[in-house]
Amino acid sequence: MLILRTKLAMLISFCNSVTHCMDGWLAETMCIVCCQTMYAADPTTKFKGALAMGVPGELAGLHAAWARYGRLPWKSLFAPAIALARDGYTIVSYVANALKDEEVDVLADPGLRAVFAPGGRLLRDGELCRNPALADVLEAVAEEGVAAFYGGAVGERLAEDVRRAGGIVTAEDLKGYRVGVSKAMEADAMGFTFLGMPPPSSGTVGLALVLNVLGGYKSTEFLKGFLGVHRLIEAVKHMLAVRMDLGDPGFVNVAGNVSEMMSPEFADKIRRRIADNTTFPPAYYLAKWSQLRDNGTSHLCVVDGDRNAVAMTTTVNYYFGAHVLSPSTGIVLNNEMDDFSVPSSNPAPDQLPPAPANFIAPGKRPLSSMTPAIILRDGQLAGVVGASGGTNIITAVTQVFLNHFVVGMSPLAAVQSPRVYHKLVPNVVRYEDATTADGEVIEFSTEAMEFLRRRGHVLESTSPGAVCQLIVQDLLAPVSGGGGGGENVFRGMLTAVSDPRKDGSPAGL
Ligand SMILES: *[C@@H]1O[C@H](CO)[C@@H](O)[C@H](O)[C@H]1NC(C)=O
Ligand SMILES: *[C@@H]1O[C@H](CO)[C@@H](O)[C@H](O)[C@H]1NC(C)=O
Ligand SMILES: *[C@@H]1O[C@H](CO)[C@@H](O)[C@H](O)[C@H]1NC(C)=O
Repeated sequence: MLILRTKLAMLISFCNSVTHCMDGWLAETMCIVCCQTMYAADPTTKFKGALAMGVPGELAGLHAAWARYGRLPWKSLFAPAIALARDGYTIVSYVANALKDEEVDVLADPGLRAVFAPGGRLLRDGELCRNPALADVLEAVAEEGVAAFYGGAVGERLAEDVRRAGGIVTAEDLKGYRVGVSKAMEADAMGFTFLGMPPPSSGTVGLALVLNVLGGYKSTEFLKGFLGVHRLIEAVKHMLAVRMDLGDPGFVNVAGNVSEMMSPEFADKIRRRIADNTTFPPAYYLAKWSQLRDNGTSHLCVVDGDRNAVAMTTTVNYYFGAHVLSPSTGIVLNNEMDDFSVPSSNPAPDQLPPAPANFIAPGKRPLSSMTPAIILRDGQLAGVVGASGGTNIITAVTQVFLNHFVVGMSPLAAVQSPRVYHKLVPNVVRYEDATTADGEVIEFSTEAMEFLRRRGHVLESTSPGAVCQLIVQDLLAPVSGGGGGGENVFRGMLTAVSDPRKDGSPAGL
């Protein structure tokens, strides 16, 4: 989560983390060995079931943000969510489809079944979903503060459910959770300053690297044409290869890698390795480690009247996280542990070894692709952006940024425009070919596909790979009307776009 306080940027990261792997094990080396191999006996437990859960940090992160900058009373913030959980909310088609996709697992878990299939069958589009246990938990946290969860009765009930489901996160782990607060990472590219999340996210570093590669060509006119798509894909492939050196800086020294990836010289080196007439097999990009394949996630952008801004990406990882819902609290357990790499005797799909910088350790946070970003121009807020969609996030945010801020598309067109994605391995460009919730067709052009095929790209169509949110501020014309934030804060018209690929919508107050 990233908060811009008119001029001061602060990053509040609340990724999940695992604090230890067994009760009372304090011997760190032993514990690390244990943790690294904790999924060796049954690799499916890394993403499915309570053992896949990391210590949830979202509530602590939101509280830390409120404690610094909140203006409303803590308790009042919970009322809308309590009402939704207690009185019910309508299942929309996107959720109904997600439930259908995960039907077997949802019906197999007593907690999920009680909430999402109360009559023995999955809730359908238009039906009401209630979660009274979660309403009680939200009430307790509203009244008693976050201590109810981190160290109080709620946390104890959650830990008990986790234990019964075969997990190892304890009430002590919840109590021991600490929010990491650090300065936002700053990256300059194409005449803009990006404030974003430092490692363990690879988002800001990845975005900056791709933009610096593309921004270094003599002119950026090419971005308006098919050559722009080709060069973007090539830059992304190089970025994915090097970003796997990153990990939690509290545990691995990534300072050298970060400064190299952010340097113009490194971008020049990569640009020289891009050929306009061809793409290359994966080995050409010199990847050392197998790719992270993360997924799930939602993203929210906010700008207020003073031009304070928030970019927040949050996730339980997969649809319905670990596929376990704690019955006594109504909380879905995340499967965030799947974002760590583990030593493996079975080769990954790309035949590369797992990245050691992202191995499991007590208290460590996993590598991610989250790219919440606040964009500044000449010190003023130009935009807020971010996306959900795992590995595709960095590529999606890059394309939306370029579409609006460099190519000059309107904010809506910039988000709506069909996107391409790449995972380095397999060596396939995935292009969007989809119909949105409200019937909009998002389709990559056949001419662009032909252009890419001639350069040796293998193409495959995909449903939406990532869902992007964007707010932009018009920095050319100020709007009238006062407000706080200081003399030097520019106030232009704000335009907000919620990606039509999901059925969210922008809201203005
Ligand atoms: C990047 O990280 C790897 C280890 O993951 C290390 O071997 C390499 O020296 C680092 N590069 C720089 C420039 O620090
Ligand atoms: C691309 O161009 C380079 C230099 O202009 C040439 O050497 C190479 O053969 C070309 N590759 C393809 C696949 O056309
Ligand atoms: C999440 O990742 C897993 C493993 O790579 C994949 O099987 C699954 O389809 C992904 N789910 C979503 C919602 O992207």
